[in-house]
Amino acid sequence: MVYSLNKALILYYNETSFTKSKNNQKKESNEEKVVFELKRLFEEKKFLVDTINLIPTKKLHLKDQFKKEKEINLLNKLPELNNYNLVLIGTPIVGAMTSSPVINSFIRKINFGAKKNKPLFIIYSTGIIHGFELKKLTSLLSMKGIKPIDSECFCSMFDFDSKKLVEVKSFFDRFFEKI
Ligand SMILES: Cc1cc2nc3c(=O)[nH]c(=O)nc-3n(C[C@H](O)[C@H](O)[C@H](O)COP(=O)(O)O)c2cc1C
Repeated sequence: MVYSLNKALILYYNETSFTKSKNNQKKESNEEKVVFELKRLFEEKKFLVDTINLIPTKKLHLKDQFKKEKEINLLNKLPELNNYNLVLIGTPIVGAMTSSPVINSFIRKINFGAKKNKPLFIIYSTGIIHGFELKKLTSLLSMKGIKPIDSECFCSMFDFDSKKLVEVKSFFDRFFEKI
């Protein structure tokens, strides 16, 4: 791999960022733990990493997010994906074992125009039980002519601990071989 500057972008959404914990203290979510671990692993390989937590303009209940997926707008300025060698998209598993409407909505807005050098895409999910979420993202991406080079699900009933994050490292090592 010969890039003048190696840049990766990690896009994610935190469904639970709208949920306050009992004592009102913010604790690191599983979604964030995976993002920070991936960022750390990329930085070890001397990559520049940007992370973007997608934030919808309106706080919608999950049911309404599903009903109005196409109307979800984001506060974030859409990044220039072509500036990156790699784009990672992470979704929480929500609803009936599927991807977040916020992430789906972001993918629907991807527009490469006439640009030729698309980044490589990688997708992953976090949740309790693996469902249809990666299939859903794969099919939305295919409508944009994008085929992710790798995908993985990180699932547990519990808060992710360092043992769980070893799975993130295995995933990282696996897709890093492919780039
Ligand atoms: C409203 C809501 C619905 C959820 N639905 C599912 C689901 O259908 N399947 C599943 O495995 N996890 C589900 N989860 C758990 C999320 O996947 C989990 O919160 C997410 O992976 C990230 O973990 P974090 O909230 O600690 O970041 C749901 C979470 C919320 C808040």
